[in-house]
Amino acid sequence: MDRIRIRGGRQLKGEIVVSGSKNACLPAMAAALLTDKPLVLKNVPRLADIATMMQLLRQHGVEIEAAPGENGHAHGTRLTLKAGKITSTTAPYDIVRKMRASVLVLGPLLAREGEARVSLPGGCSIGARPVDLHIAGLKAMGARIDIDGGYIVARAPKGLTGARFTFPKVSVGATENLVMAAALAKGTTVIDNAAREPEIIDLAECLTKMGVPIAGIGSETLTIEGVEQLKPATHVVIPDRIEAGTYAMAIAMTSGDVELLGGRLDLMEAAAQSLRAAGVVLEKTNRGFRVRRANGELHGVDVMTEPYPGFPTDLQAQMMALMTRADGASMITETIFESRFMHVPELMRMGANVTIHHESALVRGVPKLRGAEVMATDLRASVSLAIAGLAAEGETTLHRVYHLDRGYERLEEKLAACGAEIERLKG
Ligand code: EPZ
Repeated sequence: MDRIRIRGGRQLKGEIVVSGSKNACLPAMAAALLTDKPLVLKNVPRLADIATMMQLLRQHGVEIEAAPGENGHAHGTRLTLKAGKITSTTAPYDIVRKMRASVLVLGPLLAREGEARVSLPGGCSIGARPVDLHIAGLKAMGARIDIDGGYIVARAPKGLTGARFTFPKVSVGATENLVMAAALAKGTTVIDNAAREPEIIDLAECLTKMGVPIAGIGSETLTIEGVEQLKPATHVVIPDRIEAGTYAMAIAMTSGDVELLGGRLDLMEAAAQSLRAAGVVLEKTNRGFRVRRANGELHGVDVMTEPYPGFPTDLQAQMMALMTRADGASMITETIFESRFMHVPELMRMGANVTIHHESALVRGVPKLRGAEVMATDLRASVSLAIAGLAAEGETTLHRVYHLDRGYERLEEKLAACGAEIERLKG
């Protein structure tokens, strides 16, 4: 298994290209199941999770061609997806267990084929992560759903019917599943308390291009008019706000100065506000935005994760890594996932001072971190340890790099190009 070795203490300087958003791309790829017409996605990041979604879609019968992208930076890939015929309506355990986002095929398969069997994803290292909201929404549209042999078995032989559904809790994935299912339902679907993440907006815009009328995009009420047929479409995936935020924190951690090309500050206002309060300067530029440390100390700031437009849970671990070196204390509260503090013991092995009280972590800044052998149990926890390693004294070796590869495209190359001493050790 690959490892990443970092020698800390180098300031990051230069430019980093922000890749296309993983979490916008995954549902857009699943949307290809809704139609036999081609869907072209541009600015697709080269990531393990994207490869897993390609594997899943191919076994449903989707033909996928990958070609080098045209986003001006020659990094993104262009995918052409064509679901001429659905050859299987089962999403097997072997693929779903690798990636929970596989559950996003449930809505489109059910809407198009009238049936779907999707393995229950089960819990994961950040929490129990049930799928009850996905199921409740589809049931409201007339689906019959049972759990059998570890699978969600959904049927709607006469198709789905538009309905009004209010989510009792905000869910990104369940909103996406329902929006996609509604695209082929008879009549109008109104979703209240919908998630408003930029990735949902991106999916809704992609579906609009595919010929699905959607009103209220970006608000908590989405109104979707079901159609009989979708159209061929081309969609450019938005830049990854979580990747951009992660690099912003890494730059701040090393007192660096880097322009994030293609980065969009408007998609990460809550995180930008917290970083500014901590003493980090973020300035919009013509090509993205620039991040540098204001003169002086990094200050401790309190952060609470919330659904968009609040501070994203996917940046919580990285912010905590930054706060380990701040002047003063920082209270970091995680309200989305119940066990998303798995990075804390590893950060403490590097010298961080963190105390967990239920859903909050009190981080007291320390004058220095020390490199160590560390490993993480999920993608964002993993990258938080890399951020700590960039500022730690000595050498940090990060194990289980496959977590990083799920969501960060060429992380070590991007950081090394800005002066970090970082390398991948193969095998
Ligand atoms: C998406 O996961 C993201 N994944 C996650 O990113 C992200 O952390 C999360 O949204 C929150 O922003 C993708 O977009 C592929 P949710 P999702 O449904 O859709 C509970 C990363 O690192 N819930 O919004 O699975 C759930 O347990 C990943 O890139 C139910 O109770 O998240 C959680 O507490 C990790 N019942 C809360 O809602 C349900 O049926 C929010 O989860 C569904 C969710």
